[in-house]
Amino acid sequence: MDRVADKIAIVTGGASGLGKACAAMLVLEGASVTITDINEHAGERAADEIGAKFLLQDVADEQAWRHVIDTTTDEFGGLDVLVNNAGIGESSAANDPETTTLEDFSHVFAVNAGGVFLGCKYAIPAMRKNGGGSIINMSSIAALVATPFLTSYGASKAAVRQLTMSVAAHCAGRGDRIRCNSVHPGQIMTPMLEGLFADVATAQGQSTEFMQAEFLKQIPMGEFGEAQDVANMVLFLASDESRHVTGTQMLVDGGMLSAR
Ligand SMILES: NC(=O)c1ccc[n+]([C@@H]2O[C@H](COP(=O)([O-])OP(=O)(O)OC[C@H]3O[C@@H](n4cnc5c(N)ncnc54)[C@H](O)[C@@H]3O)[C@@H](O)[C@H]2O)c1
Repeated sequence: MDRVADKIAIVTGGASGLGKACAAMLVLEGASVTITDINEHAGERAADEIGAKFLLQDVADEQAWRHVIDTTTDEFGGLDVLVNNAGIGESSAANDPETTTLEDFSHVFAVNAGGVFLGCKYAIPAMRKNGGGSIINMSSIAALVATPFLTSYGASKAAVRQLTMSVAAHCAGRGDRIRCNSVHPGQIMTPMLEGLFADVATAQGQSTEFMQAEFLKQIPMGEFGEAQDVANMVLFLASDESRHVTGTQMLVDGGMLSAR
């Protein structure tokens, strides 16, 4: 208990799935947490459930970032932890490098890469005032392997990985005690993954159950991850236990990458 006692944290995309689990874990371990989401109803409900504050935010909107950082620092007195978790999949099943539209590619990038960039940009000065902090960027195993069936998503998550290294080097080089690391979930049971099973099943004319079984075969540990598994990693990176860890990529994938 109290592994992040007295820390002040923001978790984007906190209404659902991994963001909600990460926020709940940070609250449980002593942090004051703001969750943000584009889904107001689910966000308010999640915040009530876990004991966090909710702010409506589209992470792709620069003005909204100023509001979220200012409101959180004014209300709680600073910022120690940012979990850049919000992310989206692709809007259609036509996602290969030939069929993906520029519109879809740009939208996925605006949220998944642009949202993380803006979060880092505005969190750094706020954390510097506090004497340091930890930025945790939710990337994906999709950043590290070819994803011809998820062209925009994979490329956007690779951008998150690269940005993480630049932010880490920038902050360390300036002598700021601000760390920045990326987390790379494999296949974790959340609404997003369930949506992916359904989309790929439709594209291939298969049942969702068949597709789920096919995806499961890629995980050496033989089971899908749970949101809690990712929350445990985020807790470590948010806490001072990881004080010498920056710029790195943390896989939570049941062995998927190492088995390829
Ligand atoms: N579930 C997995 O297996 C998996 C694997 C790898 C990476 N990830 C990444 O983890 C993160 C969370 O995924 P999840 O599985 O919990 O998905 P999810 O769809 O359950 O939750 C995502 C949340 O982000 C919110 N959101 C979407 N667009 C937003 C925007 N523009 N601004 C603010 N909030 C927005 C959604 O409303 C939702 O509450 C994503 O970045 C995802 O790419 C998930």
